[in-house]
Amino acid sequence: MVSLRAFGRGVVPALFGKLECTNPGGSMKDRAARGMIDWAEREHNLQRGARIIVCTSGNMGVGMAMVCAVKGYQLMCLVDAKINPATERCLRVLGAEVVKVYQRDETGGYHLTRLARLESLLAEYPGAIYLDQYNSPAAVAAHTASTGPEILKALEGRVRAVVMVAGTGGSSMGVARFLKSQSPGTDIWLVDEKGSLALPGNAGAAPRHLNGMGTSIAPANYASAEFDEFVDHIVYVQAEESIRAAIALARAEGILVGGSGGAAVHVMRNLAAQHYGPEDNLVALLPDHGSRYTETQFDPDWLAARGINVPEIFNVDEEI
Ligand SMILES: Cc1ncc(COP(=O)(O)O)c(C=O)c1O
Repeated sequence: MVSLRAFGRGVVPALFGKLECTNPGGSMKDRAARGMIDWAEREHNLQRGARIIVCTSGNMGVGMAMVCAVKGYQLMCLVDAKINPATERCLRVLGAEVVKVYQRDETGGYHLTRLARLESLLAEYPGAIYLDQYNSPAAVAAHTASTGPEILKALEGRVRAVVMVAGTGGSSMGVARFLKSQSPGTDIWLVDEKGSLALPGNAGAAPRHLNGMGTSIAPANYASAEFDEFVDHIVYVQAEESIRAAIALARAEGILVGGSGGAAVHVMRNLAAQHYGPEDNLVALLPDHGSRYTETQFDPDWLAARGINVPEIFNVDEEI
């Protein structure tokens, strides 16, 4: 947990970032990966050599590939064309098999194409176990047991609001569950990319560019009756403001996070902060490190090809 004093210059409450890039696989998904494989061991009595399949935007695959390397399971990662080349390479180095789909589905995302491919893989590999991170009480529980308590402990119980991004819902629902039970005065802010179908009440599908956050299906992890009780505010962002915020954070604090972390700090600083006072601590959960995105979200040509306006010459003072 780090104080973001320079990035939070000019706003009233104190801003903090929880740097999940410090997990061994480089993202917060390590926690859910370990929790889901522990669950599969209990549920399916996994033996060495068992084949596990996971649909992943990358980080969950890295977390699972680490665990599978140690335990001797064969991991197959079903990814799509949006995956960062660096993450894909990490998966292969860790011994995972990578199956990639390129066709967008009718929502403009890839998830439905991945699910169709999953069906054929399950037919091809009888006995393979599909671990569905979109519907995983074990993933949620991993964050309830670790990420949530770490946030509260780091700030000695004084957390007024937490800003998290929406993906499969494992991290946000897990952290929210812990905080709402142990610190009911903590507000939960959820951030999604415009065009994502992850959250109840979304405005419909549209093309999205950020990696890791946003989905083209509604994850069961968010479908609980507790959603309204857990989530106080929902905010939709665009890739442009999120990537700009990630760059502003990097230049102001020397902390390089991915675009989803950029989305979280953008909302924390420019929106959530307006609601709180000088005694309040706000925390953004920053899912991963930015170094894996040098060929995508931080590459001028990649940005230009998608019409995302992030200037190379960047005035941090104007931006924050
Ligand atoms: C970079 C990044 N940000 C955000 C998320 C969303 O997290 P969750 O799936 O726990 O909702 C992910 C998930 O893969 C991710 O990799």
